[in-house]
Amino acid sequence: MLRVLWLFAALDSVLLSDTGMLFPRESSSREVKELNGLWVFRADRSPNRNQGFERAWYKSRLAETGPVIDMPVPASYNDITQDPTLRDFIGWVWYERELTVPARWITDEDIRVVLRVGSAHYYSVVWVNGVKVTEHEGGHLPFEAEIGTLLRKEPTIPCRITIAVNNTLTLHTLPPGSIQYMNDSTRYPDGFFVQNTNFDFYNYAGIHRPVLLYTTPKAYLDDITVVTDFMDNTGLVRYSVSVQGTASATVKVTLMDTGGHCVASSNEPSGVLKVADVNLWWPYLMHENPGYLYSLEVRLMAADERSTYEDVYALPVGIRTVNVTSTQFLINNKPFYFHGVNKHEDADVRTRVKLNLPSFLLGVEFEYSALQKYLYP
Ligand SMILES: *[C@@H]1O[C@H](CO)[C@@H](O)[C@H](O)[C@H]1NC(C)=O
Ligand SMILES: *[C@@H]1O[C@H](CO)[C@@H](O)[C@H](O)[C@H]1NC(C)=O
Ligand SMILES: *[C@@H]1O[C@H](CO)[C@@H](O)[C@H](O)[C@H]1NC(C)=O
Repeated sequence: MLRVLWLFAALDSVLLSDTGMLFPRESSSREVKELNGLWVFRADRSPNRNQGFERAWYKSRLAETGPVIDMPVPASYNDITQDPTLRDFIGWVWYERELTVPARWITDEDIRVVLRVGSAHYYSVVWVNGVKVTEHEGGHLPFEAEIGTLLRKEPTIPCRITIAVNNTLTLHTLPPGSIQYMNDSTRYPDGFFVQNTNFDFYNYAGIHRPVLLYTTPKAYLDDITVVTDFMDNTGLVRYSVSVQGTASATVKVTLMDTGGHCVASSNEPSGVLKVADVNLWWPYLMHENPGYLYSLEVRLMAADERSTYEDVYALPVGIRTVNVTSTQFLINNKPFYFHGVNKHEDADVRTRVKLNLPSFLLGVEFEYSALQKYLYP
């Protein structure tokens, strides 16, 4: 029950954010550069855990500030190494990655370069080349910052990304926790504290989901909202496209079936697409062709006195309805039987890395119909 409440809290904060943060996907106008792999890492073991800020570790290479180790991203740092003090560490840890971005991203001022962190537990501060670009509270959601403008200031140096992450929980964090100081100096060293939690799992910490850079044109598709429905054989795709970086843009949307044929299109930024003889999205075991996805291809065209811009984004769309009655969960008005499994972050088939096993996801082996991809964190 508690987990369900947290889910709603997480959804709330998504709705409150004022930009869309479309999931990064490559297209003819967008490039993605993944930064997963080994990063440079240092835990701030100073008594108040604040030395990194006092001595501005973000201003130079982390290795120049003191001893560092390699740390995989994404991963929970608690699970890496055999060091119990790192497993149980509370406070700020520092990550760093240096890379060269394609020169074109820098020279072409009409390109936005966005740094995106998939999620980091629990409080994060991010610098690029020693300049703070964003700060984020909360462990489960992505956050991002435009860094192209900053990179253009010093085009000849490599791009150095520094991320400080603090796993300290308070009564206001999700999940909540509290710090307890052990003041009995006969039993504990000075300043000794423990983090108390009231939940049934380990407080895994670190950069938990992929970090990447992606590009968009200066005028870009910021968000695409889709709500689907159907009447008899006709699918209804209500959509709304929001655009940033231009005052006047033309938007064209095309809905393609899996064969790549256009089944509906429009030149309006919002509206309803009607799909004749619709292939509904069904869960595994409810249809012989489950998981049918159309592709909503959205194309933005804009121009200013300097240049013209085109941004393209393809969103997979399943046409289905979900209704909850007092006793049933309905998909496409038919009762859905939840036969679900969880994947732990530390399971053999790790779900926090890109998982390309459709048969696994469809539950073919175990005949399950629901999968929780991230069971804490
Ligand atoms: C970071 O960690 C320290 C040590 O636990 C704590 O005192 C401080 O409140 C934390 N700061 C944030 C922003 O979480
Ligand atoms: C222990 O010390 C901390 C700070 O040093 C203080 O905030 C806390 O109230 C003390 N706790 C007890 C039980 O004396
Ligand atoms: C289920 O929800 C859709 C909208 O999402 C609505 O059109 C439909 O009538 C609902 N069906 C039932 C059985 O309530």
